[in-house]
Order: sequence, then structure tokens, then C-alpha cells
Amino acid sequence: MLVHAVTAHLTYEFAADVRAGLTKPGQKELLSKYLYDDVGSALFEVICHLPEYGLTRADERLLRRHAGDIVERLATPIAIAELGSGSGKKTRQILESFCRRQHTRYYPIEISRAALAMCERELSDIDSVSILGFEREYLDGLLEVAAQRKTGQHLLVLFLGSTIGNFDRMAGLKFLNQVRRILQPGDSLLLGTDLEKPAAQLLAAYDDELGVTAAFNLNLLARINRELDGDFDLAHFEHVARINHQGRSVEMHLRSMRHQTVKIPGADLAVEFLEDETIWTESSHKYSPEDILQMARTAGFRCDIQWIDDQWPFAENLLIAV
Ligand code: AVI
Repeated sequence: MLVHAVTAHLTYEFAADVRAGLTKPGQKELLSKYLYDDVGSALFEVICHLPEYGLTRADERLLRRHAGDIVERLATPIAIAELGSGSGKKTRQILESFCRRQHTRYYPIEISRAALAMCERELSDIDSVSILGFEREYLDGLLEVAAQRKTGQHLLVLFLGSTIGNFDRMAGLKFLNQVRRILQPGDSLLLGTDLEKPAAQLLAAYDDELGVTAAFNLNLLARINRELDGDFDLAHFEHVARINHQGRSVEMHLRSMRHQTVKIPGADLAVEFLEDETIWTESSHKYSPEDILQMARTAGFRCDIQWIDDQWPFAENLLIAV
């Protein structure tokens, strides 16, 4: 009964956000969090393996290379929380390093039940780990984790994969501030951030040759068809990646290839698209190493160390709450 109520509430929220985004004057938009239903999450896992998309490999390389340093730099006892654990694959190294030193509690926080289950399966074979997942929004989950903390126990929060880049810059800073307010001085945040790079490299990463990113983006329209009974014809929309030089971001859009009207009964909506009109579905902000230090300071952290990958400009930043 409760499951039905939660599902109905989520569908209602999705319908309300679709309606608000597609009736917005000027640029139509759909929130990027809706890219990640089960199909979208699976497509994102494939994106992470694409030769053009070096971000995840850089993140994993840095974690592999520096997991031992991270453990040495942080005081024990410590518990680990992860915001958006995904499949949990890239967390293994760091968790194993901590578990060699002490029994470790790991709290993955995820809105996707499927990803949470996958993460628990992926990491449960590590010796000396106990895993307690929270199917929650990031900050709600982190509040619950903080409430479980034992006296004298530190907390390390992992926010990897440059997910912060999908917030706009002000929202990203606000989010770091909110995380900081949940933490205590001496707690830490390991923040993965994708760095600025040449436009051609970025465009290839967000518009790969195989069309996986295009499918990931178009799946959002397919999801509206599935869940809200929409009649988007996917053959009449195309994926577009473009650089926003001013915002220092890559944007994903869905371009209407003709003048058309789409009906979405589940959102009580009929929406007209002009030829070439786009729906903005995601921004992925890129940072300079100094941007991150500045953001960290403003949010109440000091940067203990910043590691930069030598193959794909990406930084792993170990931030300490002051
Ligand atoms: C999850 N996030 C950091 C990815 C990114 O690079 O912004 C999402 C993504 N969108 C297209 N490709 C990957």
C-alpha cells in the first residue's frame, strides 16, 4: 500500500515538473534528474565505458592511485557516506583501504532503488565492511547518517564523478554549504570534479560516435511516453550537445526536427514545438582547479589536497570541514 502511495507521489511530481518545464516561456527544459530511470541509469553505465568519455576512468584512476593516501590523511574511527553511489564500482578501492585499517560502516545514499541494490551487491564481499543504504535524496540521507554517528566518530562524505557539475554554479555552492552544515569540524568531503578542457574533446564526450549519449538523452522523452502516456515521436527529435562558453559548461538539448504538437495526458498537457526549438535537459559544468579551492573555502572547508589526473583533466579534492 505504502509502495503504491510513494510511486503515485513520484509520478505526480514527475508530471508536475514536466508540465512546468515544457510550458516555461522561452527555453523549454526538463530536469536532468529524470534522465536516470532504470533505462537511463543503464545507459549512463555504458557512457562511462565509452572511449570519448574519460571522466569516470579518470575518477577511478585517481581513487585507485590515492586510496592509501586518503586513509592516511584522515583520523579514525571514521564512517563513510556516499552521495549517489551508483553501482558502487568506483568506491571499492577506497572502501577496501579503510577496511584494512578498521571495520568500516558505509552508507550509500541513492534515489534509485536499483542502483542501491547493485551497490550493496557489488561491495558486500569486502572484509570488515557493514553497509547500510538509504534510498533518499542526498541531504535527507546525509542527515540520517549524521544522526547515527557515534561519539568521537568522524565522517567522510564521498561525492564523486563530478555530479556537482550538473548543478548550476550557485546551486553547487549552496549544496556544498548545506553538506558542510550537516558535518562537524574535522569531517571530510572527497569531491570529484571534471576540469575545463578543449571544446572538441568536450563535444565528443557528450555526443559520442556510437550514439549512446543520444539514446541516454532521448530516453527522457521515451520515459515521458512510458510513464505519462505521452506521444513523443523519437524520430522527430535529435540529441544536441553544445558548449556554453559563458557558463563554462556543456549542455545537452533535444532538438525538434519539425513543427509538431505532442500530447502528454499524464501531465494534462499538449505542447507545441517549432522546428529547431530545443528542450534543455542537462548542463555539465567544468571547473578550474582554483575554482574548486575557492568554492570549498566559501562553503566552510579547507582543501587538504587536490590530485589531478594526468590523462584526462579531472580533480579529486580532499576537503576538510573547518
Ligand atoms: C553524472 N554526470 C556527472 C554526467 C556528466 O558528465 O555530466 C552525466 C552525463 N551526461 C551525459 N554524459 C554523462
